[in-house]
Amino acid sequence: MGVDKNKFKTDKIVTIERHILEQQRFHPEATGVLTQLLYDIALAGKMIASQMSRAGLAQILGKTGDTNVQGEQVMKLDRLADETIYILNDHTGRLAVMASEEHEDVLSIPDEYPVGKYVLLFDPLDGSSNIDFNVGVGTIFAIYQRVTKEGRGTMEDCLQPGRNLVAAGYIVYGASTMFVYTTGHGVHGFTLDPSIGEFLLSHEDIRIPNIPTYYSVNQGYFTRWSPGIQKYTQHLQSMTSETKSISMRYVGSLVVDFHRTLLSGGIFYYPADISKPEGKLRLAYEAVPLAYIIEQAGGSASNGYGPILDVTPTSLHQRSALYVGNTEMVKEAEDYIRIYG
Ligand code: AHG
Ligand code: MN
Ligand code: MN
Repeated sequence: MGVDKNKFKTDKIVTIERHILEQQRFHPEATGVLTQLLYDIALAGKMIASQMSRAGLAQILGKTGDTNVQGEQVMKLDRLADETIYILNDHTGRLAVMASEEHEDVLSIPDEYPVGKYVLLFDPLDGSSNIDFNVGVGTIFAIYQRVTKEGRGTMEDCLQPGRNLVAAGYIVYGASTMFVYTTGHGVHGFTLDPSIGEFLLSHEDIRIPNIPTYYSVNQGYFTRWSPGIQKYTQHLQSMTSETKSISMRYVGSLVVDFHRTLLSGGIFYYPADISKPEGKLRLAYEAVPLAYIIEQAGGSASNGYGPILDVTPTSLHQRSALYVGNTEMVKEAEDYIRIYG
């Protein structure tokens, strides 16, 4: 007498661990360490989500009073998310080195702990300017294999082109908390079931829809943009798809704007402008991981001139313009930049 599957109202309960183990068949050389690393990141996401859900009560809203290497105000939850990810990963022996948006230099593995073969870059809390207003935010991560041969990992291990990525993903703390990742075999989304504290597979093999629904850009900066971006945006404002105009959504948290673009179809872009000639978003731990995800989901990501994944970072916090979403929309943005500047 087997298990009555009807009792579970589903034929399969797929946790992140089960899914990654099933993905391992694509990686004969896999030893399970990457599975454990992704699980550590998911645990950090659960802890951050838990803190966030009662931030207003736990006196952890607001600013720390410090400014980070970006010259930005560090929010208490930035600091909390950053520390949570670091302490869950500094002792496991899975990483050679880490790097975070919140720290100028790389984060070395403490001498008392072993080092491993992976490199973890992360934006611990993305969209933190929104956190005090209960607007969705996220965590973004990128995973490489180390390129240095032994000892503690170095900056060289962190400055790799996106084509070297082993895995990338994000956690979006929205109406529900989702963990979305790829190891190069499709993009898969898991939703946190708070009643059991487990991420369960809810969006298998996500593909960006061919029909765009939204474009997403901060139109408040229109006067600072180049003529090409101004004309491209005006083109979108008159664009229709399937006989209706596409609408505009802009939350101001990259992970939320990206996640909606991934699921709804369309384009998100953060152009360079006269006040931010390199753009605002950071290449290594914002644009590159999301570029890997969108390409795995059938879309594209560009800096306005070519694929984000082909750019080799020269500094850890280097910024980049970002155009990400349906391939034909990204290509069209590149055309407007090429033609109008
Ligand atoms: P972070 O909170 O990690 O610094 O990232 C904020 C970024 C990104 O989340 C978002 O797309 C962008 O800032 C919004 O910038 P504007 O407020 O200039 O539109
Ligand atoms: Mn960010
Ligand atoms: Mn951040």
